Amino acid sequence: MTTTVLDHPLLHHKLSLIRDRKTPGSLFRALIEEAGLLLAVEATRQLPTESVVVETPLERTGTQRLKSLDPVLVPVLRAGLGFLPAFLQLMPTAKVGHLGLYRDHDSLVPVPYYRNFPPLLEARPVFILDPMLATGGSASEAVRQLKAAGGVNLVLVSLLAAPEGLARLQADHPDLHLVVGAVDRQLNERGYILPGLGDAGDRLFGTA
Ligand code: PRP
Ligand code: URA
Repeated sequence: MTTTVLDHPLLHHKLSLIRDRKTPGSLFRALIEEAGLLLAVEATRQLPTESVVVETPLERTGTQRLKSLDPVLVPVLRAGLGFLPAFLQLMPTAKVGHLGLYRDHDSLVPVPYYRNFPPLLEARPVFILDPMLATGGSASEAVRQLKAAGGVNLVLVSLLAAPEGLARLQADHPDLHLVVGAVDRQLNERGYILPGLGDAGDRLFGTA
């Protein structure tokens, strides 16, 4: 697995606010979106481009643009929705799939409950959006489902990862590209990332 940890002062600053339990929900949501924007710039670094010629007001010039087949964004519900506006801001014509997964509280095994993927997955770059990579069970299941649906070129975008989740993904999907904001210390006995940020879905949507 290729893992890129985004080391950027703006992301460090935003993470310090995101981690803070006193940060209110509205600000938390805005910060997750801003962190998503920074991660999106890195995650899209390998997007294929093609050469074109345009007329500037002064002369003709060769330049690059994205190849025409739009990428696919797949937020893993619920917390992945926090990254979606940032990715759509940068790629407004992207197709959006949805994947509903929740972790069973006792077993921590992901339970699928919704799935809707756009066509032509095999030909498109696919960005899986989930801020939290804890045991890695949800991300591994998301990648498994996208591969089964034809996806080949998959990038997982997370904000925080635990070493346990990285090891799980490396074992299950060595071909995956992961872009992550930070790798934290460990999981606690309930599968939460330490030091982490708490429950991302609950903080995003006010359901704690
Ligand atoms: C969270 C998070 C990930 C998952 C990570 O979702 O958004 O999808 O946990 O944990 P894992 O790596 O151990 O699988 P959660 O199950 O809490 O659902 P929610 O976003 O709907 O709250
Ligand atoms: N899901 C979260 O939202 N937070 C964690 O720390 C682990 C899983």
